Amino acid sequence: MKRTAALTLLLAFGASALPGILAAQMATPMRGATPLDSTNQVHDFKPMMKERAPLERAYVQQPPLIPHEIDGYIINANSNKCLTCHSWDNYRSAKATKISLTHFRDRDGTELSNVSASRYFCTQCHVPQVDAHPLVNNAFQPVDVLTGR
Ligand code: HEC
Ligand code: HEC
Repeated sequence: MKRTAALTLLLAFGASALPGILAAQMATPMRGATPLDSTNQVHDFKPMMKERAPLERAYVQQPPLIPHEIDGYIINANSNKCLTCHSWDNYRSAKATKISLTHFRDRDGTELSNVSASRYFCTQCHVPQVDAHPLVNNAFQPVDVLTGR
């Protein structure tokens, strides 16, 4: 009985003190003092760039940026709008780049005859290109093989 009471006290104290301790240790977030649940309204859409040639890649393994709009392009269990142009069936008629061989490999490295489930949701990795300032300034330079230096 005594132990239960002590445990209850500990839990109550722990639960109230812990968030304070954690908050004190956390780095200052970029959103400032705004609570996370007040930030899911997007106020500041970046304007899409005019459709143009894809931006150069910055590193060899980078998923290329999408050089066109994708508004309304649905990707779900029944259909994948991206593949209507980028699949090996359709890329010629769409004059699009075909998805590369890596997209046919599952996470264990097994080669498949169709797009791997891990590559099905294209926008997990590919995002439309926009003119935006880096969120954090940095001195990153692309590797030489990509810039021809
Ligand atoms: C109506 C046809 C069409 C649809 C649908 C489409 N694309 Fe494209 N996409 C193109 C064409 C054409 C290009 C080539 C543009 C160029 O190289 O100038 C392209 C280029 C790209 C590139 C750049 C490839 C490179 O070589 O760097 C990526 C990445 C891409 N699309 C991803 C997507 C994703 C992801 C979706 C779905 C959300 C999608 N596309 C839907 C036609 C399409
Ligand atoms: C897990 C991340 C990931 C997903 C999901 C993904 N891609 Fe990619 N994609 C990449 C990477 C990384 C590259 C560049 C290296 C390579 O070719 O594998 C790439 C390359 C490409 C290219 C350029 C190919 C070339 O030969 O230059 C196209 C087009 C493309 N992806 C389209 C798609 C489409 C369409 C989907 C959805 C069906 C998709 N990707 C899903 C990561 C991804």
